[in-house]
Amino acid sequence: MQISSSPQSDQHNDALNLTLALDQIRDSVGVPESAAHMFSDILRLLVQHFDADGGALILLEEHGSEPEAVIIDNLEQGEALDLCRAAMMQEKPAVIDNPYWENAIGTKIAMRNQALGGMILVSRQQNFTERSLQLLEIAEKQIDSAIIQARTLWKLAQRERELNALYMVSQLCIQHESQESFLHALAQYLADDFNADLVLITAPAANQSSIRSVVNHRNLASEALIKIANDAAPIKAAQILPIPPGQTELLLLAAPLNEGTLQDGDVIIGRDAWFTTGDQRLITAVVAQLDIALTQFTRINTPLSLPAQLISEIERAPLDHTVCYRDNQLYCNEINLSQIAIQHGTPAYVYNLKRVLENYNALHTALPGAEIHFSVKSNNNPDILRALIAAGAGVDTVSAGEIHLARAAGAKADDIVFAGVGKTIGELYYAISRNIGWINIENPAEVAAVNAVAAEHGCMVRVALRYNPDVAANTNKRIATGHHAAKFGLTEADIRQILDNSNQYSNIHFEGLHIHIGSQLGDTLATQQALENTLRLAKAYPSISTLNLGGGFPAMYAANAPIPTLQAFADAILPLTGDIHLILEPGRSIVANAGILLTRVLYVKQQGDRTFVITDAGMTELIRPMLYGAYQAIVPLSPREGPPKLVTIAGPVCESTDIFSEDILLPPLEPGDYLAILTAGAYGAVMASNYNARLRPPEIVIDETGKQAFVSRRRETWHDLSIRDVPED
Ligand code: LLP
Repeated sequence: MQISSSPQSDQHNDALNLTLALDQIRDSVGVPESAAHMFSDILRLLVQHFDADGGALILLEEHGSEPEAVIIDNLEQGEALDLCRAAMMQEKPAVIDNPYWENAIGTKIAMRNQALGGMILVSRQQNFTERSLQLLEIAEKQIDSAIIQARTLWKLAQRERELNALYMVSQLCIQHESQESFLHALAQYLADDFNADLVLITAPAANQSSIRSVVNHRNLASEALIKIANDAAPIKAAQILPIPPGQTELLLLAAPLNEGTLQDGDVIIGRDAWFTTGDQRLITAVVAQLDIALTQFTRINTPLSLPAQLISEIERAPLDHTVCYRDNQLYCNEINLSQIAIQHGTPAYVYNLKRVLENYNALHTALPGAEIHFSVKSNNNPDILRALIAAGAGVDTVSAGEIHLARAAGAKADDIVFAGVGKTIGELYYAISRNIGWINIENPAEVAAVNAVAAEHGCMVRVALRYNPDVAANTNKRIATGHHAAKFGLTEADIRQILDNSNQYSNIHFEGLHIHIGSQLGDTLATQQALENTLRLAKAYPSISTLNLGGGFPAMYAANAPIPTLQAFADAILPLTGDIHLILEPGRSIVANAGILLTRVLYVKQQGDRTFVITDAGMTELIRPMLYGAYQAIVPLSPREGPPKLVTIAGPVCESTDIFSEDILLPPLEPGDYLAILTAGAYGAVMASNYNARLRPPEIVIDETGKQAFVSRRRETWHDLSIRDVPED
């Protein structure tokens, strides 16, 4: 580049004009917002004054290399940063040789002799003169003093921006009822504040798979951007990410809620302007506040923790097309439940066979190709077993007793899985001698036991090893089974040890891996993670051709409970499994909403500030609320007129914990009224006991037509209570 000179008088006027113009800009700076604009005004003035094509002014964070402020006029981001850094190295204004522009002059910006950043002006034509450098020196002095004036204001502006954003997070959190709409509003706010093309926030919905809120002004492929963010992991704090391929003018700023890969609560912002340390600080503050806001939503959105006063039990109950009120009478399909209660007495279980089969078919449709083994432990009613087996289901059993029931209901030996954490040798004999399809093994010593029993029978046994994938399922901790502290399954090291030495067990075919991470799963994430871990392990062993994923699909215990759908599970599972053969062991998702426990009000009594409604069913008939704190909706079969009352529904058993539900809002109740405890088809009757010498209830089945009900299991009698007693001589 060549430098030419110009006449003296012009030069003088020029310098004066420039100084005056810069002075004017500085004078207008009085409030924080104008400080933020001041540097861009200065830059624009200089670009005009020097007849340049563009320019940049970049201040760097004290002692750091991150930009604190970036003002660019007509330049690419990267070029601007390079050029300003080069300018910063110069003692005084100088020509900056560079690969981007034919002509560039620049100067450092300094305060009290300490370089704070650089400024450059660029042009395609040769229009910079020696005088330009002198003028730049004059301008730089003005800028130096402008910085002193602006920096404090600038910091104030930043502080105010942060406070505004934090205030907005808390305000939006109050204003929005659902987490989804809150996140969307927040994403919109951030998009405006950052002038961003893309804002993406990931966060877990209560008991649901991860949701994303995206504001995307340029229709960018957010999936690709998420991948970039993930690949840049671990992200420790807000940071600028590498530019995505094909998006040269897009810069990404990611802020993690927790250290690590992109996950719930993270925010990614994309725009075409450089991010500053101020932006990073702001987004760090927002994410920290978001963390608090999300806990609020989790609390608010969890149906069980809703204050009972706010919603009546009838509204909260998961009534649907099969269980609903008609003329103020609760029906199950075509059957008026009061009639069953009157005819068969209470307590009594009622099962809806049509619903059982609908649920089974829904699983088939969502997960085609998977072999479905109904988990007998959830409900072993003979008519339910028969109907499912006739429809093509295999069974999952955990005791010789369950194998016996399944076989009695018509299950073929080959369609039976025998699992369990503590099988006795007797049970193994029974299963192996009946050629049961699969034995699932849960501990290293069991391998030798199975092999020995099989050798004695001179047969080969097909085995799946139950793997504990060490994941934390989103469910009640009492029914989570796939974490390292659980008693279930084998560690990865154990499995490798067994499979690496499989030739020692000549009567076993090791063909499968089995997992079951818990029941009533609140999201699909842990399942996906467990599956990935299992597939990674299976890869090393070609003999493993089957993966048994266990059960866990949730049931809807309250209306609108945010549980993942079967389709969500299918979407999480099927893309990963390839051509591996899949077995599923659903229990709850097939029978829970097909069962109702009918009970009768024995007494209503006032005690302290509570109204207790004592029913003839208790923990002996349905123990889930007492054992797990589980919620089961309770509604009257024939609601009475009158203002609803806050009542506590308690069983008759001599245990303080024999309470179904505390402080729920129900229509007025009187002794003799019937109640239905809904969604009781899974882990209900099977967990019943004779505690307090109570008789286990009958199981009434409404057949597939929905119109006929019959007794499938009778009520126990006193004779049943003493039937096992050995008579005196
Ligand atoms: N497979 C295995 C190995 C299991 O342990 C279980 C349930 C299942 C399948 C069936 O899981 P489901 O699809 O039903 O979630 N009594 C508790 C639930 C205990 C679950 C035991 N294992 C409750 O009432 O919530």
